[in-house]
Parts: sequence; structure tokens; C-alpha cells
Amino acid sequence: MPGSAVEANQATAEKVLVFDFGSQYAQLIARRVREHNVYCEIVRHDLSAQRIAELAPQGIIFSGGPASVYQAGSPKCDPQILRLGIPVLGICYGMQLACEALGGDVTSVASREYGRAFCRITAHDPLFQGLPDEMDVWMSHGDQVTAVSSDFLPLAATATCPIAAVRHQELPVYGLQFHPEVTHTPCGAKILANFLTDVCGCHGRWRMEDFAADAIRRIRRQVGQQRVICGLSGGVDSAVTAALLFKAIGSQLSCILVDNGLLRKDEEEAVIREFTSHFQTDLHVVKAEEKFLAALSGVTEPQEKRRRIGHAFIECFSAEATKIADAHFLAQGTLYPDVIESGAAPDGPAATIKLHHNVGGLPDELGFELIEPLRDLFKDEVRRLGLELGLPSEIVWRHPFPGPGLAVRCLGEVTRERLQTLREADAIVVEEIKAAGLYAKTAQAFAVLLPVQSVGVMGDARTYADAVAIRCVDSEDFMTADWSHLPYEVLGRISTRLINEVPKVNRVAYDISSKPPATIEWE
Ligand code: XMP
Repeated sequence: MPGSAVEANQATAEKVLVFDFGSQYAQLIARRVREHNVYCEIVRHDLSAQRIAELAPQGIIFSGGPASVYQAGSPKCDPQILRLGIPVLGICYGMQLACEALGGDVTSVASREYGRAFCRITAHDPLFQGLPDEMDVWMSHGDQVTAVSSDFLPLAATATCPIAAVRHQELPVYGLQFHPEVTHTPCGAKILANFLTDVCGCHGRWRMEDFAADAIRRIRRQVGQQRVICGLSGGVDSAVTAALLFKAIGSQLSCILVDNGLLRKDEEEAVIREFTSHFQTDLHVVKAEEKFLAALSGVTEPQEKRRRIGHAFIECFSAEATKIADAHFLAQGTLYPDVIESGAAPDGPAATIKLHHNVGGLPDELGFELIEPLRDLFKDEVRRLGLELGLPSEIVWRHPFPGPGLAVRCLGEVTRERLQTLREADAIVVEEIKAAGLYAKTAQAFAVLLPVQSVGVMGDARTYADAVAIRCVDSEDFMTADWSHLPYEVLGRISTRLINEVPKVNRVAYDISSKPPATIEWE
């Protein structure tokens, strides 16, 4: 197993740590820091000052959190961290905690403030350099710091929050009551940039080309002369993993693509083309459509579909993998959010949320050593890396697609004929969204074949045929999503084409549910 990303990326030198106090925004803060080309990781809030001194970050950001600092059992940090001389920026709960830990005269009172607020800068400081004296900020707090001792200098105020920003007079410790990481704080990016460059002294040298070169060196060191197997699914994560491995170890890489008959239109061909002609990998295509259809025959219950597909996949993949005699490693396209949310990062926070779809039993069953070269990256960074490695934008920018494929979008029974209907319908939805210039703006756009037949009339004849739902969502992280407000003309064009061009479809509906309470996929 690779070590912590903090250790693995020594070559990237500059890093900032985000202490997670349970904020829903911890990952967003880390992404914002990386947008300024400074490597950033999320860590547990209770790491000791000694461990932090070893890790030697250029700066630390305390996230917000749902607790109150004065509640018994609320998450705290080792107060000595604030005296290490490493710059600290506390956000919301993080500000209250930093002020309290430094023995400032801090009282927290209930004074709820949610949403947009107007903030006035009351003292000049490097943190606010280049900013207007007044700005919109985003507040989301029940408590606030109402008074500080003379050890602190208040920097900004809103109408209801007299200390909206603060700094310590001696130590490089700052606090913001508002959230600079959200887009509703328009100057937030500049404030974070000021913290990173002017307070922490970061140079912003973390670049994707350096990451690629560094990752290739690490893979070569880890793999030596051994062989690596990598599963390809058509998705961007596995494609970038394979491309990176190919650059690192070339002919020592074997890829396996399980053709489960559940892929999108032309997806298999695109992957085969890319990984045999552009990247000339040792690609094994397992033709398993029959096996998957047989496993799914008569099954309509969503979880049962997933279970059977999972089993069939493991069987196919294992059978092919064991034929590759000298294979030692199994590569997976695990991303940083998966690592954080599964609680698997050595210094990272304990699992808080999930249940991730991609973290499954495959590696243990096969007895391979795992290699996860993307485990430090967010999705948008993986896409940038893919482009850097020369993958075509068609693969890099493809919308996410669930492992169980079209089966979970083919509601009711999964048959070859129904899959064919769905595949054609899906291709039309995507084609029209692309033609309208909306593909990059939407997070996912696809068709769902409903287990419903309805009456229609075509020419002079009565029809009784299939209904298709269009699902199109906007989302940053896929944990929440809003239905895309597509122009009526685009919806109209999609509907006309679906009914005219896809045999057996006579009705189209648009899904206007957000997540939560709905999910993005229907099953
Ligand atoms: P839901 O439907 O839970 O989906 O809102 C959130 C995101 O996850 C994708 N998804 C999956 N991805 N295996 C995957 O690799 C799965 O079984 C799976 N189910 C959902 C979904 O497409 C969306 O991007």
C-alpha cells in the first residue's frame, strides 16, 4: 500500500493541511487551496503538535463544524499546534476554537446567521490585501466570537457579527467567521490566496505535469519489474489510471475490459481504440454479455441486479486475471474523496459519510497487492491529469457512469432488446445535450427506460409502447444535485428525436427531482 499522500508527495514540498472538525466543506476547502497550486490534504483534527511538526506544513486551515466549542465533547485540537509558528486560518467553528484555545476572552452566544452578509474591513492586514473595504460574505453559524482580549486584533465586522475576522497579535493565527471557500463569498478565493502566499509564504508550485512526473517515478519504484493488472470500465478514473501506468511501466501493464453488454453506445470501441492504438497496452477484452444477461434474467429488484452484476464481474475479472500468470499488482482508480470518506487515509479523518460504490471486495478476493495512483486527486484534477497524459477529451470529459451500467437505468427486466432501446435513447439525449453546448455544464445527462407502456397514436395507428425519462442534473460533488433547467427547445428536440428514431418509444418525460430526496440514478 502506498503511504500517506503527505509522505508520498515530498517532491511537491509545499503543503497545507485542513483540520476536519466535521464540516461539510472540508473537501471544498482542500480543493480551493489546490486551485492555487498548493498541495493540500485533509487530516484528523486531533493530530498531535509533534506529528504536525514532523509533517511540517506551510499552513493549516481549521474547518468549520456543526458543534459548539463550549459543548462537552466537542472536537478540539492540540493547542500547542497554535504555538508552532505555522500559520493557522480558522474558519467559523475553527475560528472560535483557535480564539478559545489561545486563552482569548471569547464568549460564544447564540446568534444565528445564515446566508449572505455584508462585511466591512475594519483593520488593514495582509489577509485582506487587494480587497475592497466592503464585500459580500457567506455566513452559516449559530455561535460567534463576541469579544476577544487585547492579544487579538479584530479585522472585520458585519451588522450582527462584530468580529467577523480576527488575527492574533503575536502568532500567525487568523480567524474568519464567514466561509471563504464557497462561491457565495466572491472575494473568498482572493482571501485564501492571500493567506497562502502572504501569510504562509507558499509559491504555488503544485502543477499537474509535476504530479504526473512524480507519480510515474513512484509507480516505477513501487512496481519494480513486476506486472500490474488494471480493469478498464469506460469511465475516466480507470482510463487515467491505465494511461498513467502505461507511461510509467509500458509493457508491464495488462488491462482487462469486461464487456458486460451494459455499456453506453460506442463506449467499448472507444476504449479499445484508445488502449490498443494510442496506448499500446496488453488489452484483454472479456466477452461476457451472455453471462450478464443470464445472471439478470427475470430480475427487477435494483439491489439484486447490483448484487448479480457484482458477482458476475468478479467471476469474469478473476478468471481473466488468473490467466495473466506473472501479475502481482492490481491497479484501482480510487480517488481522494473515496480515501477520505472511507476513513482509509493514515492521518485523515475517520469515515463520516459513506458507503462508496467503488470500494469493493475485488482486491482481497484476488490476493493482489493494490496500487492506487490517483488516491491523492479530486475528480477535476484526474481529468486534468488525463489531458496531460494525452487521453482524448471524449474520454476525459465523459459524464460519470455507474459500475452496473445500463442495467440500473433499464427499470424492470433487463433484456437485450430493452438495453438496445435504452442505448439508442441515451445516445440521443447525450448528442442533443452536446449539440446545445450543455454537456460540460451538466454533471450527468442520460436516458432511463421505464417499466411502463402507454397508449399513443402514430400515423393512423394506435400504439402501446415504451416511455423514456430524461435525467439531467447539475452537481459539484454528486452528493447533492439539482435537476438541470434545460431550455424547453432542447427538451423538445430530444423528445422528438426519441419518439421518431427509437423504435418502440412513444412517450418522453423529464425528471425534475433533486437529490436529496431523489438520487441521481433511478435504481
Ligand atoms: P446516486 O444515484 O447515488 O449517484 O445519486 C451518485 C453518483 O454515483 C454514481 N453511481 C455509481 N457509480 N457504481 C458506480 O461506480 C455504482 O453502483 C453507482 N451507482 C451510482 C451515479 O452515476 C452518480 O454519478
